[in-house]
Formats: sequence, structure tokens, C-alpha cells
Amino acid sequence: MQLTRREAFSAAGIAAGVCILSSCAPAERKSTQSETGRDMVPWPYHELDPETTAERAYHYHYDGHCMYGVFKGIVWQLAERYGEPYRSFPCSMMTYGAGGVASWGSLCGALNGAAAVIALFASAREQQVSLTSQVFLWYEQAELPVYVPVRPRLDMPMPGSVARSVLCHPSVALWSKASGYPVAGKEHMERCARLTADTARRTVIVLNERVSGQAPRSMIADPQVGRCNACHGRDGEQKDVLGRMACGSCHTSLSDRHPDTLATAPNSL
Ligand code: HEC
Ligand code: HEC
Repeated sequence: MQLTRREAFSAAGIAAGVCILSSCAPAERKSTQSETGRDMVPWPYHELDPETTAERAYHYHYDGHCMYGVFKGIVWQLAERYGEPYRSFPCSMMTYGAGGVASWGSLCGALNGAAAVIALFASAREQQVSLTSQVFLWYEQAELPVYVPVRPRLDMPMPGSVARSVLCHPSVALWSKASGYPVAGKEHMERCARLTADTARRTVIVLNERVSGQAPRSMIADPQVGRCNACHGRDGEQKDVLGRMACGSCHTSLSDRHPDTLATAPNSL
């Protein structure tokens, strides 16, 4: 087959692209021991003090926002105490989570940071899911923030609110409604810094419990989620929904066609 110059060039381009992804030069690409070590999770976790962690995360929030605050507030204590591999972690990549990822208002960055920390330190997938769920459920249900900084950047009485969601958008909107403060103002930043401290503290509590072999405190999932998923979840009749977020935070009413069982159930929508 005759290739034109352009075709030959693009074929080579594709081949070159493949080289980057897979291995064209096995000898060169073979990782050294330390590279392999760094790429492997879990990394060892050492118990941390929840209050110190909260204060750290609070101040880091002012450097790189919520996800960075939680992540660095935890990982950097280990870096200072133990050096590598913690010290080489590029914590600043975690700034992407600010405002629910690049201000999209999706997953709250503090929770994104918590989930990343847990993924770094939890061994099995089930453990990762269980620890992450403990932090997420707490966040959905708690009135936040509660943390009062030792050295506040902005000294103010801080109104709290319940997000009923793990998403940045409702979390911020409900706080703005409860407090009367606008988004992106200095009060909002202070609120998210304190919320970051609360989330870092909760993450460390959950990790410490795991390390000390304590039974995890049982978080009660929103009972509605289980009820809805009994029909809509993967084991239900409908099998059309994937998720554990509080259903009622978005589905505030259902159509008249919706099965009656729900309408008559206690605590239904
Ligand atoms: C007893 C089983 C069952 C339970 C429990 C249930 N659903 Fe449904 N749901 C259905 C069925 C069946 C349909 C399809 C109805 C239709 O044909 O329109 C449906 C439809 C829906 C729809 C589509 C729009 C509408 O309003 O009909 C939404 C949204 C929905 N369910 C949300 C929920 C939520 C949220 C919960 C929990 C609060 C829930 N469902 C609990 C069976 C159930
Ligand atoms: C963050 C908001 C949000 C949450 C939380 C949420 N949903 Fe939804 N859900 C939506 C949106 C948006 C759609 C798209 C269709 C629509 O507009 O109804 C949808 C669609 C659905 C549908 C299909 C509706 C249809 O018309 O056929 C069902 C069923 C449903 N959700 C059930 C649930 C259940 C059960 C939960 C809890 C486990 C849940 N949802 C949590 C926002 C949400």
C-alpha cells in the first residue's frame, strides 16, 4: 500500500502516541524500586491529632481552597514528621477541587479532599467505600461549620446550615440563604475555611478509628435513600438509579403515576 506523505506522517504520529501510553522501550520504562513504591497505595498512615489537623486545614484553605486545605492539612503533617514519600506529593494539584471542581458546584471540594486522603491510606476497596461514606454521611447531615479557629482570619459569628447534600452548590446556596451573605465574599470564604477544618478533623477521626481498630461509629444513612433504592437501585425492580446521595434533596415531589407505596410510607417526600 502506498501512503501519501500526510498519511505516513499521521500513522507515525499515532504510533508515537501509543508509545507514550504503553511501553515502546521496556528497558527505559522499567520503574525503579522507589517509583514503584510511590505508585502503590496504601501509604502508611500514622495517627494525627484532630484539633491540630483542623487548624492546619483552616489556614491552608486560604492558600488553595477547600480540597487543598483538607488534603494538605493531613498529608503535610506526615511529610513534616516522616519526610518521604509524603513530602513529594504534589499537594497543589488539589486546588482543582475548589468550588466543587473549577467552580462547577459539583462535589464539595472538602469532601473531594477527604476522599483523596482516604484513597491514599485505606487498603481495601470496601474499607475505602466505608470510610468515605462515613465522612459523606456526616457532611450531609451535620449543621456546619462548627469549627472556631484559634487564630481566625475573619473573626465573626458564623451561621451554620445543613447541606443535605454532598454537592457544593446546595451546600453554599443553603448557607447563603441561612446567613444572608453573598457567595464569593469574605464571609463565604471564612465559612468554607471553617467547613474545610471540620471536614479534615472528621476525616482524621475516621482514619484514627480505623488504625486503632475501633469499631467505626455507625452513621445512619438517610432512610429515604434505602427506601428509594429498594426499587430504583441495582437490586430493585427498576434498576435505573445509581447513587447514595439524599434523593429528596433534588426530587422534592413525584408524579401522580408514582407507586402509592411511597406516598403512604412514613417520612416519604
Ligand atoms: C415501590 C417501588 C418504588 C419506590 C419505593 C420508589 N419508586 Fe420511584 N418509581 C417506581 C416506578 C415503578 C416508577 C415508574 C412510574 C412510571 O411508570 O411513571 C418510578 C418513577 C420514579 C421517578 C420518575 C418520575 C415520577 O415521579 O414518576 C422518579 C423521579 C422516582 N421514581 C423517584 C423516586 C424516589 C426519589 C423514591 C424514594 C423517595 C422512589 N422513587 C421510590 C417505583 C418506586
Ligand atoms: C443532585 C440531584 C439529584 C439527586 C440527589 C438524585 N437525583 Fe434522581 N435525578 C436528578 C435529575 C436531574 C434527573 C434527570 C431527570 C429529571 O429531571 O427528572 C434524575 C432522574 C431520576 C430518575 C429518572 C426519572 C425519570 O423521569 O424517569 C429516577 C428514578 C431518580 N432520579 C431517582 C433518584 C433516587 C432514587 C435518588 C436517590 C438515591 C436520586 N434520584 C437522587 C437529580 C437528582
